[in-house]
Amino acid sequence: MAQPPLRVEADALAVADQVAMRLQAALAQGATLGLATGRTMEPVYRALVQRLQALPETDCLGLLASWCSFNLDEYVGLGPKDPGSFAAFMRRHLALPLRLPSERLQLPDGLAGDPQAEALRYAQALRAAGGIDLQLLGLGRNGHVGFNEPPCLPEAPCRCLALSSSTRQQNAGAFGGDPQAVPPQAITLGLAEILSARQLLLVVTGAEKAEILRRSLQEPPCPEVPASWLQGHPGLEVIADRGAAAALQLS
Ligand code: GLP
Repeated sequence: MAQPPLRVEADALAVADQVAMRLQAALAQGATLGLATGRTMEPVYRALVQRLQALPETDCLGLLASWCSFNLDEYVGLGPKDPGSFAAFMRRHLALPLRLPSERLQLPDGLAGDPQAEALRYAQALRAAGGIDLQLLGLGRNGHVGFNEPPCLPEAPCRCLALSSSTRQQNAGAFGGDPQAVPPQAITLGLAEILSARQLLLVVTGAEKAEILRRSLQEPPCPEVPASWLQGHPGLEVIADRGAAAALQLS
């Protein structure tokens, strides 16, 4: 299979600037954005905020006026008031600094009484908005994208699912370092919705992800590495720092 376009930057800050540039260009075109959370995205959103704040005010307001975004996922049981929720993450990193009303940043409702019904509603809202133009993706250490935990097929739809113990371990930092405090379930867009986006931007930083990035991009797609299904998408671009790209065979 042809290799997707890959851009390797010196470090996470340089990666963030590249990604922020692409997000700004997409906003200028009125694109619907698919947004992600996680440590990888923190410098990305900082860089985006800096770029937008550096614009003349009318240009910045013009870009924000048409803002439409859908996040990948949310923990079941957490609402925007919980600092560990992804809704709170988005509020801290984008809505507050950009003075965007929080409801402009759409996420699954972690407090919905019936999480599976909420997943269906969220997928329907995304379809009604015309789908995602540019989907930003981080990479979990077990190869998950969004919260599509292995094993996962490319047809998997938006749904409520159980998080693996490795993912709860990986995300414990936002919950005082205690994996048991990480909610056991989440609602995530499925690979079906992710692969329906017109463009995908996979952003990976840090040497600890070098091996899973290699398996995601340079081994045949398989359910054990959910991100490997991205290889089949004609609009995939990968931006990584040197650490994350270290195990890739570059032609
Ligand atoms: C999290 C999120 C993913 C994110 C990934 C990587 O659990 N659900 O959307 O991309 O794991 O996180 P990090 O950037 O903190 O390594």
